[in-house]
Amino acid sequence: MQSRRQFLKGSGGLALGLAALGSASSRIFAAGSDVIRVGAVGCGGRGRGAIIDCLSSSDGIVITALADPFRDRMQEAVRQVRQWCQQAGKPVDQVWKVSEERMFTGYQGYRHLVSLPEVDVVILATPPVFRPLHLAAAIKAGKHVFMEKPVAVDPPGARAIIETGSLAAQKGLSIVAGTQRRYQKAYRWNAYAVRNGALGKIVSARIWWCGGALWFHSRGPDESDADYMARNWVSFTEMSGDHIVEQHVHNIDVANWFIGRPPRSALGFGARARRKTGNQYDFFSVDFDYGEDVTVHSMCRQINGCYSRVSEHFVGAERSLWADSPIQTSMSIPDFEDGNPYVIEHKELINSIRSGKPINDAKAVAEATMAAIMGRISAYTGQMVRWQDLVENTTSPWFNLKLSPSAEDFEAGTVKVPQEDRAPIPGSD
Ligand SMILES: NC(=O)c1ccc[n+]([C@@H]2O[C@H](COP(=O)([O-])OP(=O)(O)OC[C@H]3O[C@@H](n4cnc5c(N)ncnc54)[C@H](O)[C@@H]3O)[C@@H](O)[C@H]2O)c1
Repeated sequence: MQSRRQFLKGSGGLALGLAALGSASSRIFAAGSDVIRVGAVGCGGRGRGAIIDCLSSSDGIVITALADPFRDRMQEAVRQVRQWCQQAGKPVDQVWKVSEERMFTGYQGYRHLVSLPEVDVVILATPPVFRPLHLAAAIKAGKHVFMEKPVAVDPPGARAIIETGSLAAQKGLSIVAGTQRRYQKAYRWNAYAVRNGALGKIVSARIWWCGGALWFHSRGPDESDADYMARNWVSFTEMSGDHIVEQHVHNIDVANWFIGRPPRSALGFGARARRKTGNQYDFFSVDFDYGEDVTVHSMCRQINGCYSRVSEHFVGAERSLWADSPIQTSMSIPDFEDGNPYVIEHKELINSIRSGKPINDAKAVAEATMAAIMGRISAYTGQMVRWQDLVENTTSPWFNLKLSPSAEDFEAGTVKVPQEDRAPIPGSD
């Protein structure tokens, strides 16, 4: 088999190599050598991070296209990749093939990007509200996907991700999600141990994302409603799902993973206390009932000056553990790769494409997102919310709860900023 170096040399350099690779979507890749071309939708902090993590993960990665409503975000991506190349000792033109025509602005830019023959893998790192629409477009176009968590803001969105995940499986496409604990050695070790009985029967767990306030963006004088919400997305439930979905989804995902199923119901509360913009809460406290006498208490808070903890603790009939600290056991546990999970997730995505053995994280991340949405709905309304009400019971008041403005409003130009500094009041909303 040719080495990657021979492959590039033999085809007269990278530009020719790219052309020679043809334009069909869902290309068949030769194990370990083929160039894989990546486009990124959403070039903010995480989108730029994911581009660099992908480049760091494997040889033969080329970035070919970007999409973001704001040109400055894409320019920052160019700057950061240049800087990374300098530090990594790589010629920029070896990894960067983003021409001006393949930098798409506007809220429909993703459509152009996913239709490009020069893209094999799409990174989706926009605010969560866009994920269901963007994932469906990428999978329909035959692209493999890395997508950031969370993957929806409402029940129809989370169900759409599961549906698109099934389509990806039928098409043999990989979807890796940015729930990076699933790519982290200590978590994998513990998940394996717990799922194989190291704690005895799981009885309960506590999960936390209690930390400080995040950033917010103040509205500029000439900013449209859409651009204001896109730049200040972490303040609006319609964009982020609220922070129980946006941030705490990581810990809820660990609970689902270790217990082996999503929760059956949620009963919780929360409130808005100190935020300046948007309409989100500042803290949530939710009991998740996983059935079979397993309960999980979840807490999340974004307020400065309070006790901070981001973790998960599981109690079994025989032992307990902290999920990020490998349990000592005589059990034989697979030798999971150690390293930066943000890089390993891309490495495994690229390997899955090259080996023709797809990974599909869509259902797991959609279920974690749905569970977080279930906790949010319970806190906002003051009601007990059941899993069945979100996934099956079409007569429930929440089954078709679609937040507005939606991703479609951004494309249609019909975005209206919801009233700010007014959060749901349980018992009345
Ligand atoms: N896995 C993790 O640890 C982790 C960490 C941080 C963020 N995230 C997730 O990554 C995603 C992005 O977060 P971020 O911190 O990069 O936010 P960000 O605001 O820095 O970046 C979001 C980018 O998306 C762009 N955007 C908005 N609407 C778009 C559209 N319709 N099409 C294309 N681009 C669009 C914005 O202009 C912005 O550049 C979120 O889902 C967030 O929850 C994950």
